[in-house]
Amino acid sequence: MATLSERADALEYEMSMELERRVAERRPIRSALYVSGIYDPASERHDLFEALADGKTFLMGPDPRIPAMPEKPTLMDFFRMRFGNIQHVMQSARLAMKNGLDEKVVLACLLHDISVTGFISGDHGYWGAMMVEPYVDEEVSWAIRAHQILRFFPDPTVGYEYPEAYIKYFGPDFTPEPYVHEAYARLKDHKYYMTGRLICLNDYYAFDPDIKVDLEEFEDLIGRNFRQPAEGLGFDHSPVAHIWRTISMPTRAL
Ligand SMILES: [Fe+2]
Ligand SMILES: [Fe+2]
Repeated sequence: MATLSERADALEYEMSMELERRVAERRPIRSALYVSGIYDPASERHDLFEALADGKTFLMGPDPRIPAMPEKPTLMDFFRMRFGNIQHVMQSARLAMKNGLDEKVVLACLLHDISVTGFISGDHGYWGAMMVEPYVDEEVSWAIRAHQILRFFPDPTVGYEYPEAYIKYFGPDFTPEPYVHEAYARLKDHKYYMTGRLICLNDYYAFDPDIKVDLEEFEDLIGRNFRQPAEGLGFDHSPVAHIWRTISMPTRAL
């Protein structure tokens, strides 16, 4: 049974949608992350009053349709149960390891796209860096953030070219927006520049369909370099705990 405050919140949501429909005269845009817990997400119909009259309520906890997370989830748990296509980041981390790079670089490679695999694609370098910032060395989060920008810019000193795949993905006429160029200018002389660049280099060659990597390969490295909070990711009251909770319970109504 929904509490009075849950019903009030839901009513407020419905009223805001109705206002949007009437005033804006266009299809209301929901958050890119919006997924409905109970109602059909493909449906434009969102008649809360009918549903509540039927005795249904919004989902306010874990979604029974996806694997249950432990009470105190670790980074490994998120890799196993919430992140999607993890072969790419694991291949990239293995490459960094094979190239004899520092553990910080290997960890940065392992984590560089976790936002894409578990949260959101747009600006994923920034989101991913934010997610891990309280738990890793500053060099690691700096590099993950920087890879978002650096991958668009060649660096002949290390043999990094503009990825050919981007011509296919974004078209031959695509050029990054001005703020990307501005960000690049701020990053290129930074003391951690090369760590960010090394992500790009090991990113590039980590799409081999014939290689399968196991997460266990990185268990010790994660143990040494990721400060796993005792309360579990999402419950340690860090400034980013809410992001981990959202990934853990992605369909809660509020
Ligand atoms: Fe990336
Ligand atoms: Fe990547």
